[in-house]
Amino acid sequence: MKEKINVFDYSDLIIKSLKPGLLLNTNGDKFNSMVIGWGHLGVVWGIETFIVYVRQSRYTKSQLDKTERFTISVPMNNEIHPEIFKVFGSQSGKDINKADYVLLEEANLNNTPGIKQYPLTIECEVIYSQDQELDKIPTEIVDRHYPEGDFHTMYIGKILDAYIIKEDKI
Ligand SMILES: Cc1cc2nc3c(=O)[nH]c(=O)nc-3n(C[C@H](O)[C@H](O)[C@H](O)COP(=O)(O)O)c2cc1C
Repeated sequence: MKEKINVFDYSDLIIKSLKPGLLLNTNGDKFNSMVIGWGHLGVVWGIETFIVYVRQSRYTKSQLDKTERFTISVPMNNEIHPEIFKVFGSQSGKDINKADYVLLEEANLNNTPGIKQYPLTIECEVIYSQDQELDKIPTEIVDRHYPEGDFHTMYIGKILDAYIIKEDKI
């Protein structure tokens, strides 16, 4: 069961969850999910959006570029599952099948599942993406974050739906 929410009612929880990390799910050749610590919930062109930053080397990037859809999964009450965070923040979908680690919940609108263990769910469709231009970033940041290139692409996701996954009552 899904309880629809106004995503901005949960902005405090969502933004504070970026520090330990949220999950960014994609569903191209297969389901995949990775931990993200950078992101924005907001409004652009009058559209409610969630923005993510994905490095070139991520399996997630190849999936996102194919499908232009993603889903954000947020734990409620800081209920982080250490194994999921460890695996999803350090291992790649190129090497493992991350669907084996979570219980999936079918999406309503973007064909990209949510995760039952991280019930607050934001379904998005990419409406704009842009590669970072390293010559426009301060040198000290480039030196710290991009010594080997592998820059980020920014994806602006239009929010299509937002809800909390609830356990089905028997
Ligand atoms: C706390 C934390 C935050 C992270 N934030 C990001 C991020 O915002 N963007 C990014 O590209 N990678 C980020 N990563 C790294 C990816 O989660 C990690 O490289 C992951 O294994 C990529 O999976 P994939 O290859 O299946 O896409 C973060 C990792 C951690 C632990």
